[in-house]
Amino acid sequence: MTNSLHERDKQYALHHFTNLSAHQENGPLIIERAEGIYVWDTEGNRLIEGMSGLWCAGLGYSEQRLIDAATKQLNALPYSHMFTHRATPPAIELSEKLVQCSPDNISKAFLVNSGSEAVDAAIKMVWYYHNAIGKPNKKTIIARKRGYHGVTVAAGSLTGLPYVQDGFDLPAISVIHTGTPHAYRYALEGETEIAFASRLAEELEQQIIEAGPETIAAFIAEPVMGAGGVLLPPDTYFEKIQAVLSKYDILLVADEVICGFGRTGNWWGSETYNIKPDLITSAKQLSSAYQPIGAVMVSSKLYEAFVSHSDTLGLFGTGNTYGGHPVAAAVALETINIYQERDIVGQVQARAPHFAERIQAMSNHPLVGDTRSVGLIGAIELVKDKATREQYPVSDKLAVRVVAAALKRGVMLRAVPGDGVAFCPPMIITDEQIDEMFNAVGDALNDVLNA
Ligand SMILES: Cc1ncc(COP(=O)(O)O)c(C=O)c1O
Repeated sequence: MTNSLHERDKQYALHHFTNLSAHQENGPLIIERAEGIYVWDTEGNRLIEGMSGLWCAGLGYSEQRLIDAATKQLNALPYSHMFTHRATPPAIELSEKLVQCSPDNISKAFLVNSGSEAVDAAIKMVWYYHNAIGKPNKKTIIARKRGYHGVTVAAGSLTGLPYVQDGFDLPAISVIHTGTPHAYRYALEGETEIAFASRLAEELEQQIIEAGPETIAAFIAEPVMGAGGVLLPPDTYFEKIQAVLSKYDILLVADEVICGFGRTGNWWGSETYNIKPDLITSAKQLSSAYQPIGAVMVSSKLYEAFVSHSDTLGLFGTGNTYGGHPVAAAVALETINIYQERDIVGQVQARAPHFAERIQAMSNHPLVGDTRSVGLIGAIELVKDKATREQYPVSDKLAVRVVAAALKRGVMLRAVPGDGVAFCPPMIITDEQIDEMFNAVGDALNDVLNA
């Protein structure tokens, strides 16, 4: 049975973000059940889900209330939509809840099915807004090198990672990529975090002036850059970036697809880093991954412009068949209720010091150059030489080897660019489970060192 599933996968499934020939050789790791923070593969191995799947299963895998919310909604109304004035009770209640949980300037929620869709919708809204207010030349979006915003044509254009763009003719929209706020790797010798942040803001301003401020529509940023390596902004970074944006009338989109709903120890990553966005994109932990759903949170400034423009054009002409799907909306609503009732933000804050301590302790290992974390997200960065921060050749695939060794030791992790290994466990993890995870990773690092 297992064998045949393995073979059938190789025969029929085209995998996401996978080396296709290696897959033909090795086949899939098939996960078949889960409980709490653990998953089991078809060989019977129990694994800690150290990445909450893809940074998304924040409540772990055994939340009966989410299963009940889905079942109840499937029985009542499995489908209706949000086009042409239609609505459903869960989509309305979720929109209300999302606005209530958002910064004060946010007045509307636009429901979609994924993070990429949320980012694409947000970019269309940026363009729609500037057209509405008579600034049709404001089209270019500024994103960051190593930023990750998804894979659809607009979102994939903003993503600043070659492995997402190469071969796909991306970027396909007008985008400028600015510097990566990762002091360990990109600050100059002797440069403080604060001086590094100033330099990045100056570089941004220079790029805006060179392109012409009248052509720049928006800046998009993850509060913590996730898939690009779990990169935490240097002190004062967002304050300085935002000062430049407001000088040139440039909108700010906070991509909270990973950071939203408690991950950084506040409800939004924007709170952690004092970001004041015009638009917020979210997905993933919005439903704790039990249903595919995303949302764009829209400020009243933009919404009011949309209203007048939609009058002129006849309608706000964008949406998706499943945007605001009632089953996904019911599950997301229940997810947020659980986060609030159980004070998930407080839970993350309570676990964060131990999580940080265990990550920091890894810097004693000969392979680990940098360690970083905020809330319950973090990473280690592997180096060949701690003093010079020199890395192993890319062809050594060190982080990939550490992740493979950790899997053998019972922990699922993810290699991220720059020889990083990311940690993003379910937010329900206990201190004992944090120890279990890092003990295994310590062994895995030794396995690679001694191989
Ligand atoms: C910050 C960010 N934005 C957007 C996306 C895209 O989300 P999805 O994979 O649901 O399309 C991701 C996915 O990892 C993400 O991390």
